[in-house]
Amino acid sequence: MSADVKYHVHLNREMLAGAEVAILPGDPGRVGKTARYLDPEAHFLASNREFTSWLATLDGRQVLVCSTGIGGPSVSICVEELAALGITSFYRIGTTGAIQPDIELPCVIITTGAVRLDGASTHYAPLEYPAVADLELTNSLVAAARELGLPHRVGITAACDTFYPGQERYDTFTGYVPRRFQGSLEEWKHLKVLNYEMESATLFVIASVFGLKAAMVASAIVSRTRSETPDDAVLAQAEENLARVMKRALQLRGTARS
Ligand code: URA
Repeated sequence: MSADVKYHVHLNREMLAGAEVAILPGDPGRVGKTARYLDPEAHFLASNREFTSWLATLDGRQVLVCSTGIGGPSVSICVEELAALGITSFYRIGTTGAIQPDIELPCVIITTGAVRLDGASTHYAPLEYPAVADLELTNSLVAAARELGLPHRVGITAACDTFYPGQERYDTFTGYVPRRFQGSLEEWKHLKVLNYEMESATLFVIASVFGLKAAMVASAIVSRTRSETPDDAVLAQAEENLARVMKRALQLRGTARS
């Protein structure tokens, strides 16, 4: 590996061709599909561990699509390395579990701030430091969802290191949830938290600390007050909605800036 290639993402500046915007799905399997939705001529760049990347061109601008894997630690590696290669705006796209019972699947959820139930963000700033999304990027996602007529909600997300106990799931090997998390779903519901996911707090804190921009859009694939198992049709629709919102948000932001 040459010296200028970043250790985990296996990318260098030349491969990014001046891209300043990155879309970050968690799942490596979603990277190529997302990139091709933006640009049928998009091409594969690299794949190492959970980090798969493609480069697309949208309205004359390069857009990197790079998976982060699941959870804060791998998000932190991805953002560290991409920031060093010149990425200044990060849009995370992902799936999520809705907490509020009136959220219908696969509602689009745009996060304004995250409850810091992760560990990785505490390695960058103390817990008193807020995990907030960038306003400009967030506004572009809201405008896109509105324009596309997709049902959407905007608000606070609980970002958690674990899918099972931290999100108070009992369908587990032991069926036990430590006391710290017992009743937590009900509490977040009362506190008007919209959803659970696993990466936004880390992403927002790191981006803020670095002076960069980050936003988060997810599609609800389960409604936690009703069921735990996602449906294939809902998953497919969720993926399509995210690609549509993401593409339109980039176009709207590009138009606003040019
Ligand atoms: N991702 C999560 O973190 N939780 C869910 O319930 C669904 C997706």
